[in-house]
Amino acid sequence: MLDILVPTTPRLADMRFYSLVTLTCIVPAFAQTSGAVGEATSDPASFVNLFVGTTNGGHVFPGATLPHGMVKVGMDTDSPGNHAGYDANGTFRVLGFSQLHDDGTGGGVPLSHFKIFPSANCTSFEGCATSLDARKVLRKILPNGNPDDFASPGYFSTNLSTGVRVELTATRRTSLQRHTFPPRSDGLIPRINVDISNDGQQSSTVPTMVVDPTSGRVTGGGQFQASFGPGRYSIFTCVDFRGVVPAEYGSWLGNTPVRNITNAKQMYRGFGSQLGALLAFQPTGPSQPTVILVRTGVSYISTAQACNNAESEIPTFDFSGVSAAARASWNDVLGNIEVTIGTGSDQEDTRVLLYSSLYRTHLSPADYTGENPNWKSTEPYYDSFYCNWDTYRTLYPLMSLHDPERFALIVRGMLNIQQHEGWLPECRGATQQQFIQGGSNGDPIVSEFFVKFATHASKLNVSSAALYSALLADAENLPPDWDLQGRETDAWKKFNYIPQDLVEPGGTPSKVVSRSLEYAFDDFTISQVAKLLNKTSDAAKYSGRAGNFVNNWNPNTTVPGGPTTVKGMMQSGLIRSMQPRLVSGDFNFTDPRHCSVNDPTHATCFLDGSPLLYVPQDTAKLVELQGGTANFIDRLDFIIDNGYFDVTDEPGQQIPFMYHYANRPGLSTQRSRQTIAQFFNTTTAGLPGNDARTGAMGSYAFFYLAGLYPLPATRQLLLSSPFFPSISFTNPVFNTTTTFQAKNFGGNPPGGTGGSVFVKSVTIDGVPWKSTCFVEWDVFETGATVELELTTDITVPCGSTNDALPPSLSTGGYD
Ligand SMILES: *[C@@H]1O[C@H](CO)[C@@H](O)[C@H](O)[C@H]1NC(C)=O
Ligand SMILES: *[C@@H]1O[C@H](CO)[C@@H](O)[C@H](O)[C@H]1NC(C)=O
Ligand SMILES: *[C@@H]1O[C@H](CO)[C@@H](O)[C@H](O)[C@H]1NC(C)=O
Ligand SMILES: *[C@@H]1O[C@H](CO)[C@@H](O)[C@H](O)[C@H]1NC(C)=O
Ligand SMILES: *[C@@H]1O[C@H](CO)[C@@H](O)[C@H](O)[C@H]1NC(C)=O
Ligand SMILES: *[C@@H]1O[C@H](CO)[C@@H](O)[C@H](O)[C@H]1NC(C)=O
Ligand SMILES: *[C@@H]1O[C@H](CO)[C@@H](O)[C@H](O)[C@H]1NC(C)=O
Ligand SMILES: *[C@@H]1O[C@H](CO)[C@@H](O)[C@H](O)[C@H]1NC(C)=O
Ligand SMILES: *[C@@H]1O[C@H](CO)[C@@H](O)[C@H](O)[C@H]1NC(C)=O
Ligand SMILES: *[C@@H]1O[C@H](CO)[C@@H](O)[C@H](O)[C@H]1NC(C)=O
Repeated sequence: MLDILVPTTPRLADMRFYSLVTLTCIVPAFAQTSGAVGEATSDPASFVNLFVGTTNGGHVFPGATLPHGMVKVGMDTDSPGNHAGYDANGTFRVLGFSQLHDDGTGGGVPLSHFKIFPSANCTSFEGCATSLDARKVLRKILPNGNPDDFASPGYFSTNLSTGVRVELTATRRTSLQRHTFPPRSDGLIPRINVDISNDGQQSSTVPTMVVDPTSGRVTGGGQFQASFGPGRYSIFTCVDFRGVVPAEYGSWLGNTPVRNITNAKQMYRGFGSQLGALLAFQPTGPSQPTVILVRTGVSYISTAQACNNAESEIPTFDFSGVSAAARASWNDVLGNIEVTIGTGSDQEDTRVLLYSSLYRTHLSPADYTGENPNWKSTEPYYDSFYCNWDTYRTLYPLMSLHDPERFALIVRGMLNIQQHEGWLPECRGATQQQFIQGGSNGDPIVSEFFVKFATHASKLNVSSAALYSALLADAENLPPDWDLQGRETDAWKKFNYIPQDLVEPGGTPSKVVSRSLEYAFDDFTISQVAKLLNKTSDAAKYSGRAGNFVNNWNPNTTVPGGPTTVKGMMQSGLIRSMQPRLVSGDFNFTDPRHCSVNDPTHATCFLDGSPLLYVPQDTAKLVELQGGTANFIDRLDFIIDNGYFDVTDEPGQQIPFMYHYANRPGLSTQRSRQTIAQFFNTTTAGLPGNDARTGAMGSYAFFYLAGLYPLPATRQLLLSSPFFPSISFTNPVFNTTTTFQAKNFGGNPPGGTGGSVFVKSVTIDGVPWKSTCFVEWDVFETGATVELELTTDITVPCGSTNDALPPSLSTGGYD
């Protein structure tokens, strides 16, 4: 997720501007099953470390949820950049345990609704601290300096400095919290605060709340500001308690609790007032802990629906049953990928890195089925696409490999949104359209699904007609506001690029080079679907438009002081479009170093750039534009060696793998392994600088570790060597398993340099395969054993025939 300066986004919190803190001393707690070498496990959840990326601005959510669950219950701390609520640094204080989060986003702090907060030390009802600032407490700090927090898939627990232990688990739309208050001899009784109004941005208006004095049930809701768009949304909750009876009840406004008030309407409110309920409970006894179960249903429809969700999903407040079911759901999806580990000392940790990365690809989008307030439909409804620009490149291709049934549901939800709103979703959050990053990048997602599963689409209830007409709507229909929907179709059709100085009513002339390049790729993916549907003339039309990226190529631009071989540019970053073209056709020259780490003017943009971008449909054309493979390799080296490669910039993420197109796959293998060594590890700071990006970083790291790199909406994947002796993918739709075996696996070189890791030859089910650089989707469709022979020779080519190079449009590929 990229943050961009948008006036309507109330709080801009881009973690790129926080200093990089290395927190190698924070070693989070997670229980790892120690399986024997080479042994598969039935509990891959035990390999997930949920704390990776929970400091250092990673914005990773470590709380409890189901795969793609709507409820993501977790701790909120008062840390800067608490976009996912939590920070693993124990100096930050706990504000509560809220029900909804996003993982890895930017924008204003999203969601974070309905914080439940235990107060153990209030001397009286009226004396209880209730506002965020007044009530917050530290966690218990362990002798090693870390907070006493624990997490595993579907479960989270912590011990607070007040002695209260809080444990969390979840179903799809309901959380269950277990608060264990220590025995007290001083007569202080347990109290629980239900915070109605404090979302991540403190943006609440029109809060409602009703407290039932007998049962303690609290219902309520309000309207809140979307994180990354102009819209507002409503959300509701229904909170019930079990194990204890309420001894006192009331409401609070700011830091003032008032006993016996049961309705928010009974309190005077100013705009943005903090508001909630406070309940006290009869302790179990002076020498026993008091255990209070708190069940919180959530709904975007109504408080009644929030109560229904809670009652139907967690009828018996069975904490261990709910958390065991959540873990089983995680094992179902994680278990479709298996690795064997070798004897290398890194292997167990690398397996944790792999599964933790995989885990984070199953947090978003979230299954909001039944919770769409905008229209009624029996189709699935998914939300938290935050943003497709971030995720289409690697997340959905990973889903194709092991979770196609979920993928089908997401696609159906996207098509349903298109049918009601006119365009596929792009950066949707909390039921609202949010700001588009560049292209209409729902297109490559639904196209990825169709290219991979066309023959199973109708079985999965995905209508090919609906899918194709959704693609055409994005490609052809001018939306009223292309910062929120679709694309600048008129300009794209007229100019074959997006001019920087064209003023049209539908939006701002921003990110123009990015838009052009994304539209070109989006159109490529439409041509891929058109081909499968035998729409020959459409296929030709859109594959023609897919070549439009060349219109943004300024052949004369060089990097001042850079090598003469690095000549010609399209763009250096998303926000500051480099070499934009004008209506006249002229280029508006910009120094290619602008906004990069090498910018002599130290301009502050929101993204460092890389002077080479993402056109996977025709990388061969890029090689040609740059004067051949030697120049192309020089450029890739120049980019990486001079700090222009930004691993967090999605369009540039494939740069380490692009040596494949220069017939030097060994260089890709080494560069991608160096990227892992430099930027990804299992510490809380183990994600590069900023966001996890709703699974974009997780899926990226996963592919590098698996020795693969996807080309979305095609039947090819680039190939390298895995970090394990073998890795298998089980595809439930095809009912196949595909195993990549590194025949003479000799371990992973430290730092990623050298080693016996370069692919010398490939066989598929024992038959020699033409290329060491890519495999076809067929190996996943039919199931196969792909055997890789490794060597220490980094100079190995893709193969000896012309078709050993990965495909590109201009070299006749993809047919
Ligand atoms: C935790 O955060 C505090 C306050 O921001 C900072 O001073 C400290 O260095 C951080 N701790 C670690 C281990 O990085
Ligand atoms: C919290 O305290 C309980 C009881 O002492 C203990 O069992 C648990 O391991 C501690 N830590 C966490 C993270 O729950
Ligand atoms: C709360 O009370 C307990 C028991 O008296 C005490 O150990 C703890 O320090 C208190 N915590 C706070 C934050 O006041
Ligand atoms: C609250 O209500 C209870 C029972 O209805 C009553 O005994 C008590 O006096 C009331 N307290 C206040 C502060 O109004
Ligand atoms: C597809 O739809 C039919 C009819 O509504 C239903 O019976 C079937 O379960 C659905 N299949 C899937 C995979 O959703
Ligand atoms: C050229 O780019 C600069 C810098 O972004 C911008 O200020 C200027 O308006 C552009 N020129 C035209 C004609 O759009
Ligand atoms: C497209 O044409 C091929 C070859 O004639 C045929 O096998 C296939 O079923 C057709 N596909 C569609 C969607 O009509
Ligand atoms: C690039 O430079 C050549 C030689 O000076 C010139 O003919 C050409 O028009 C320039 N191209 C652009 C796009 O500026
Ligand atoms: C983990 O990765 C981060 C950056 O992504 C880096 O700063 C840190 O030094 C690495 N830590 C270890 C122990 O490798
Ligand atoms: C899946 O394949 C296995 C054998 O590989 C077979 O036993 C099983 O019946 C298949 N399942 C389905 C649903 O086709």
